[in-house]
Amino acid sequence: MITLTVNGKVHQTEVDTNEVLIDTLRRLGYKSVKRGCETANCGLCTVLLDDKAILSCSLLSLRADGKHILTLEGVREEAKLLGGFLAEQGGEQCGYCTPGLMMNTIAMKRELVDPTDEEIAHYLMGNLCRCSGYVSQLRAIRQYLEV
Ligand code: FES
Ligand code: FES
Repeated sequence: MITLTVNGKVHQTEVDTNEVLIDTLRRLGYKSVKRGCETANCGLCTVLLDDKAILSCSLLSLRADGKHILTLEGVREEAKLLGGFLAEQGGEQCGYCTPGLMMNTIAMKRELVDPTDEEIAHYLMGNLCRCSGYVSQLRAIRQYLEV
């Protein structure tokens, strides 16, 4: 049995020793956490663990015992704001990468003060996008950081 606090709600749940956090979170109903590569390469499954962005496909649930987790369901206002900028700038095309990009961008805003374009690109390098070429996403993220 482990205890996870997800978006402020406390869950106690049984997990298998080899279960990864994405599976536990989705089983608990946090369907915003999306499955992509499952090999720590695409960034789609990003959540915040004690305010740090992590890849939930590559963390054993047992290691999250006692931690605080944020998913997109827990940052609706920030996601709505960022999503609006992404749509306005053409940074959301097929939308596949968007949940992970949003979580990592929200983590970055909390962590970095006035980052340069290079620092933003470095922070978000784990979030792959096949559609946007990243330029329109960067414009949207700049707008979001300035709010
Ligand atoms: S699903 Fe976790 S990094 Fe791709
Ligand atoms: S918008 Fe399609 S993968 Fe990023």
